[in-house]
Amino acid sequence: MPSTLYKADFIDQYQRPLRDLRISVTDRCNFRCAYCMPKEIFGREHAFLPKSELLTFEEITRLARILVSLGVRKIRLTGGEPLLRREVETLIGMLAEIPEIEIAMTTNGSLLARKAQLLKKSGLDRVTVSLDALDDATFRQMNDVDFPVQTVLDGLAAATEAGLAPLKINMVVKRGVNHNDILPMARYFHGSSHILRFIEFMDVGSTNGWRMDDVVPAKEIVETIDAEIPIEPLEANYRGEVANRWRFKDGGGEIGIIASVTQPFCGNCTRLRLSAKGELYTCLFGNHGNDLRALLRDGASDAELHQQIAGIWRLRSDNYSESRSSETPASPKVEMSYIGG
Ligand code: GTP
Ligand code: 5AD
Ligand code: SF4
Ligand code: SF4
Repeated sequence: MPSTLYKADFIDQYQRPLRDLRISVTDRCNFRCAYCMPKEIFGREHAFLPKSELLTFEEITRLARILVSLGVRKIRLTGGEPLLRREVETLIGMLAEIPEIEIAMTTNGSLLARKAQLLKKSGLDRVTVSLDALDDATFRQMNDVDFPVQTVLDGLAAATEAGLAPLKINMVVKRGVNHNDILPMARYFHGSSHILRFIEFMDVGSTNGWRMDDVVPAKEIVETIDAEIPIEPLEANYRGEVANRWRFKDGGGEIGIIASVTQPFCGNCTRLRLSAKGELYTCLFGNHGNDLRALLRDGASDAELHQQIAGIWRLRSDNYSESRSSETPASPKVEMSYIGG
C-alpha cells in the first residue's frame, strides 16, 4: 500500500498529508433520502442557498489550483446532487485543465442518462452512483420522492457506455429498510466490472435520527454475502482508501465495504471538503467551516489563500469517527448535503 510522503508535503497534527478534495457544488437535491435530507426538515419551507451565495466556477477553480499545489491529487464533485448545478460540465472542463489530477463525481444517477457523454467529454474521469436498492418499492421509499429505480439503472448503463470507469455503486444499508437488498445487489453486480460498495449508515449531520440499532455492521454484511457468493479480502489501492476491498473468489469482480462506524479510518484520512458556499471543512463531522469565500471576495491574493489553507491543514486534528464513542459534539454537526458525502 503506497504511503508515500513527498518532501514538500503539508501534514496535519497526525502526519496525514492532503490528497483528496471533495467539492459540494450545490446544497440542493431532487431526492430526500431519510439518512441525508429528511423531508420533515428539508421540505417545502426549507431555504436552500441562493445562487449569489454559491462559489462561482472561477472561484472553485482558483481554490482547486491552490489546493492541488498543497498536495491534492483527486477532486470529487458532490452535492447535494451535483448534476443539479447548472452547466456543471463547464466547471469540469475548467478543472480538467489542472495537470495530474483525477476528477470524479458522486451522484444519485437520476440525471446521468442524459448527461454521461457530455460529462466524459468535458473531462470527468469516473462516477460513483448512489443506489440503495434494486427493488423498486424499496428504492422509491428510500429516495422518498417516488423516483423509479429503472431511471438510475439507465444512468448506470449510459455512464458505462461513456467510459466513466471504474464505476462504483454506493449502497447505504439501514436495518429494517433495505438490508434485505444486500444479496440481490451483490448478485446483480457479481460478474460486472462495477464495484459495489456497502456503506454503514452514519451519524452524520443532526437531522437523520441515527441510532446504532439501524446500522448493519460490516462484519454482518460480509457474512451475508460470503454465505452465498464466497469473497476474500484484497489489499487497499492507496493509503487512506475509505472502502475495505473484497473480491468474489470465483473471479466475479470486486466489492467494497465502508465501515466508518464499526471500523473507523480517521488515521489515514487525507480528505478536505469545500462546501457549496465556500467553507473549508477538515472533517465530515465538523461543526465549523473556514470561510474562504469571504477571503476570495475581499480580494485575497493566491499567496494569502495558500498560506491560510496550509495553516488550516497543519492545525487539523480531526478524528471524529475514532473518538465518537467517547465524545458527543456540543454543537450541531454540518449536514452532509452542504459538504458532500
Ligand atoms: P474513491 O475511493 O476515490 O472511489 O472515493 P470515495 O470512496 O472516497 O468516495 P465516495 O463519495 O464514494 O465515498 C463513499 C462514502 O464513504 C461516502 O458517501 C461516505 O458515506 C463515506 N465517506 C467518505 N469519506 C468519508 C470520510 O472522510 N469519513 C467518513 N466517516 N466517511 C466517509
Ligand atoms: N450514512 C452513510 N452514507 C451516507 N450518505 C449520505 N448520508 C449518509 C449517511 N447518513 C452517502 C450516500 C451517497 C453519498 C453522497 O453519501 O449514499 O453515496
Ligand atoms: Fe440527495 Fe445523495 Fe443526500 Fe440522497 S444521499 S438526499 S441523493 S444528496
Ligand atoms: Fe476523516 Fe473526519 Fe471521516 Fe475521520 S470522521 S475519516 S477525520 S472525515
